[in-house]
Amino acid sequence: GSADIGVTGLAVMGSNLARNFARHGFTVALHNRTKAKTDALMEAHGEEGVFVPTGTAEEFVAALERPRRLVIMVKAGEPTDAVIAEFAPLLEAGDVIIDGGNAHFEDTRRREKELREQGIHFVGTGISGGEEGALNGPSIMPGGSAESYESLGPLLEQIAAKAKDGTPCTTHIGPDGAGHFVKMVHNGIEYADMQLIAEAYHLLRSVAGYEPRQIAETFRTWNTGRLDSYLIEITAEVLAHTDAATGRPFVDVVADEAEQKGTGRWTVQTALDLGVPVSGIAEAVFARSLSGHADLRAASRDLPGPTGSALGEKEAAAFADQVEQALYASKIVSYTQGFHQIQAGSDEYGWDIDLGKVAAIWRGGCIIRAAFLDRITDAYDGRPDLPSLLSDERFAEEIGAAQDDWRAVITAAVADGVPVPGFSAALAYYDALRAERLPAALTQGQRDFFGAHTYRRTDRDGAFHTLWGGERNEVPAG
Ligand code: 6PG
Repeated sequence: GSADIGVTGLAVMGSNLARNFARHGFTVALHNRTKAKTDALMEAHGEEGVFVPTGTAEEFVAALERPRRLVIMVKAGEPTDAVIAEFAPLLEAGDVIIDGGNAHFEDTRRREKELREQGIHFVGTGISGGEEGALNGPSIMPGGSAESYESLGPLLEQIAAKAKDGTPCTTHIGPDGAGHFVKMVHNGIEYADMQLIAEAYHLLRSVAGYEPRQIAETFRTWNTGRLDSYLIEITAEVLAHTDAATGRPFVDVVADEAEQKGTGRWTVQTALDLGVPVSGIAEAVFARSLSGHADLRAASRDLPGPTGSALGEKEAAAFADQVEQALYASKIVSYTQGFHQIQAGSDEYGWDIDLGKVAAIWRGGCIIRAAFLDRITDAYDGRPDLPSLLSDERFAEEIGAAQDDWRAVITAAVADGVPVPGFSAALAYYDALRAERLPAALTQGQRDFFGAHTYRRTDRDGAFHTLWGGERNEVPAG
């Protein structure tokens, strides 16, 4: 075969990725379970480059140059296993299978292990940027063996988004499931970013009394500053949109029940297992979940709340500035939590992930791309062993400067009865980390009281237990 790469699974993401490869001069073999999709792609975009449309799995594999590189773009889970089972027997040692779907990293670890026994490189790859990104340059997060990246990297670097400084938004993340793990956390951070933006909108609407168009303008202004990002940009577009059928703001006619396909939930489930406090991401997942409980919400609608007071025009503008501060500070916290999780995953699975590089390849192409990512890259460049983003001097300074407004915004939200779980969780994380003493000492005392679970002391090494039922003498434990 002569094709540089093959793509099987030609729904929108797969088609766009195939076209992206072809537009960069690569010969691309095409395959789909039903040939109609392949034909449709050829019909519509066959002129964009050199494609080799194929019918059967055997034809597809035969069309590929050796060692073969084939990208699977099918639904995560069962369908991915089915496609692997179909192709693996047709491949040989040294070939590379790239799974570009949103697979769970544990599935990727299992598949990588199984295929490795056959000498096949399995590269679970996070791809972010939606349909548009797949076509014009996504952020690409490949895991798998370092060897596989030698053959794959040059192709991925061509089709990936480029950061402002020209560097491609892809890098070898680490072995086996590392790529999909990092993509998962990317999505968790995406959920948190979206939730924080939603809370900012809610506050501007309910506390400042702004209309959606005005809020769109506010977001447009924010987008020229440190919050400059894809998600802020599209937020302004969505808020400025008018529903054609009713003439009302689009956001007022959409059912307010957020859905999810599951990557944010996986992030939190995994964080719980790793013992990483990703409270902001968790609140974002729970906020979506709560919004979807229509019955529960209907049954609770008459519960009493405060009577909000409308702000004057000048006060409203000042409040909007404070919300910008709160949003930025909370954003620093959710990225701090997300990067902590990547570090913890890397330690747990021995992936040796370079956090600075992860920030660098998120600067372009992906959904969370933002000017802010440059700052994170700088932070890790300056200090690769940074214990936490909050310990970066510049971030610490900025969050310190924002904290009064951050508190004021949450106070106003509480007074007016506007839920801000993302802002509040972020501030609680910040205050908890700052605290000299946490009430966790009391928790330890309670555990020792009811279950003799023992505790450690601040002044001496070792574990201790107090004989709560008797004279309350302290004894060394274990
Ligand atoms: C991306 C997106 C993409 C998708 C998510 C979000 O990085 O390009 O994250 O992967 O939009 O699956 O989906 P849900 O909000 O439905 O979970």
